[in-house]
Amino acid sequence: MAIVCKSPAEIEKMRQSGRVVRQVLDHLRTLVAPGVTTMDLERAAEQKMKDLGAKPAFKGYFDYPCVLCTSVNEEIVHGIPSEKRTLNAGDIVSVDCGVVLDGYYGDAAITVPVGDEITPELRKLLEVTEQSLYRGIEKARIGNSVSDIGGAVQEYVEAAGFSVVREFVGHGIGTKLHEEPQVPNYRSGGPNPRLREGMVLAIEPMVNYGKPETRVLSDKWTAVTADGSYSAHFEHCVAVTRDGPVILTE
Ligand code: MF3
Ligand code: CO
Repeated sequence: MAIVCKSPAEIEKMRQSGRVVRQVLDHLRTLVAPGVTTMDLERAAEQKMKDLGAKPAFKGYFDYPCVLCTSVNEEIVHGIPSEKRTLNAGDIVSVDCGVVLDGYYGDAAITVPVGDEITPELRKLLEVTEQSLYRGIEKARIGNSVSDIGGAVQEYVEAAGFSVVREFVGHGIGTKLHEEPQVPNYRSGGPNPRLREGMVLAIEPMVNYGKPETRVLSDKWTAVTADGSYSAHFEHCVAVTRDGPVILTE
């Protein structure tokens, strides 16, 4: 399948999907606290999506069982919400949410501190990861190529002393959750398409405090750092337009 560019009308629809995703994440952020379980977040997300008239994008996707991914501490992405996973003060939790509204997908993630006090090291990990996302977004311009995005993310992250995950990448998004192209968070030697007007990309840096290597737990979903170090994740959907990058999930 080739890369599908979107018309301004389609991008407007994706802005609506993106708005819903943001409203869900804004709500979940207020709920994150010590003693809350990741299943509490799942239930709240499911209800909020219903209220806003959107369908969850993740549930059932390759048999994924939930509407959210909740990845705590050394979990990078695709953590499965569980009644047994209680958030503790000092944890960090990545909350990743996708919806489909009127046929168009939205997908975004934030990483949130649990409680008011996380260590300065973790604070920095969160700041650098979020900032690296904006460095990448800044490169989502007509005439640049996909690896300019990953290159900017990687450069910023590595200059701060952290590492970018290689095994999981961002993606095109539109009438499917995952479309071409892949959007690595590093300057990869793989396919490197030029960015054209109307492309919509989910840019999602995953940044490890320690080494970049990953492994997947026996639940077949949860990706964790191989060295057990903390990991953070932020994601936005971004349209490439004549006026520059437009964030659809803000
Ligand atoms: N934001 C992630 C992604 O775009 C979440 C996908 S979870 C899945 O890949 F269950 F839907 F696969
Ligand atoms: Co995504």
